[in-house]
Amino acid sequence: MAVKLSKSDKQMLGCQQGKATRTAIRILMRMAEVTGATEMMDVSQGHIDGCGLLSDAGLEFAETLAANGGKVSIPTTLNMGPLDLQNWKQFGVGEEFAAKAIRQAKAYVDMGCIPTWTCAPYQGYLTPRFGQQIAWGESNAICYANSVLGARTNRYGDYIDICAAITGRVPKCGLHLKQNRKGQILLRLLDIAPSVMRDNAFYAILGHLIGSLARGKIPVIEGLPPDPTSDQLKALCAAAASSGSVALFHAIGVTPEANTLEEAFHGEDPEQVIGIRLPDLLKSMSDLSTAGEGVALDLVILGCPHFSFDEFRQLTVLIRAETEQGKSLHPDVKFVVTSSQTSYALLQRSDFLDVLTDFGVEITLDTCVFHTPMVSPETKVIMTNSGKCAYYAPGELGAAVAFGNMADCVRSAVEGYVCRKEMFWKES
Ligand code: F3S
Repeated sequence: MAVKLSKSDKQMLGCQQGKATRTAIRILMRMAEVTGATEMMDVSQGHIDGCGLLSDAGLEFAETLAANGGKVSIPTTLNMGPLDLQNWKQFGVGEEFAAKAIRQAKAYVDMGCIPTWTCAPYQGYLTPRFGQQIAWGESNAICYANSVLGARTNRYGDYIDICAAITGRVPKCGLHLKQNRKGQILLRLLDIAPSVMRDNAFYAILGHLIGSLARGKIPVIEGLPPDPTSDQLKALCAAAASSGSVALFHAIGVTPEANTLEEAFHGEDPEQVIGIRLPDLLKSMSDLSTAGEGVALDLVILGCPHFSFDEFRQLTVLIRAETEQGKSLHPDVKFVVTSSQTSYALLQRSDFLDVLTDFGVEITLDTCVFHTPMVSPETKVIMTNSGKCAYYAPGELGAAVAFGNMADCVRSAVEGYVCRKEMFWKES
């Protein structure tokens, strides 16, 4: 079926707004055909995931758009990039990779994107509002924007995202439409002790489990505490988006489109009801680890998604507790935190930064361990508090991974081996 075009769509297709805009709208029109959308719609904010350096083709595409006069027409933030732009040498990144990464960054900034370089844009700058139509890339950010903020976006993959940002147009379909945001399966938390739900690791573990249960459906969670923090929901979103491509979930009494069960399911019955009990969470936790207790540790990775200021504060408290007992970072362990310039600027205005760097924490900004070649091939065992990092590390970094909460990560970094004494609800 032909896609209905607006006057501005026709102008863009007719090259009246330049070659880059014509390329972008043509790609979007093709996407409309593939998705079965019959018309296009406006979006008012973009977030670009394609600014990572996955291939020379991606670099060529960005540079070609920029050279052809491509400019974003809506406020557009950038996801993490391929490089810590200021300190890449310190992290062992090679000159050739860095040169390409810097060219890629320049192309996107030249197109008018805001150089936020973070995968947690919702915690720093230009947070979308409820009901706002946006075009975002980056799976955790998409899930957070849809679920926690109630903004509306489909999962815009690499290079479609910049096309949407240049034109301000997307196919009218999917999660942009209210009728497609209806909950489909009900996940009931049953007999989970409040102490379990207070542990930050709970949210990553639950997210991992939800992703594996959702199977393409929109899940609705019943039984979450009413006041999870932004960081806890960030962890849930990242894990669910990784294990199950979840782009939207509802949580009764927590997320804005789910004040009641009836609202979450648009007045209809769930297609399926699944109970989640402690053993299910323990199984999910165990699925996130390929390295067991007592294994020698090489690297701790925190900040996936990017660390917030409050997470830096929590980490400082944990490290202070160790150093006050005369403990220090084990000499065989590297401790890396990935974050954004925005959170780091706040960190610099606190007295936490000295505590972290004195302990040996290396903070890398603008990028992440999966997108910049900073993890040495000798790294055999990684520990993380992130469901997303734990999910991808074995395949992407070729290392065994141990999942644990932040306190476990700090304790293990001190001991030099994986120990999860702090996870008091672990199976034992
Ligand atoms: Fe962000 Fe990289 Fe994790 S993009 S969510 S730190 S995998």
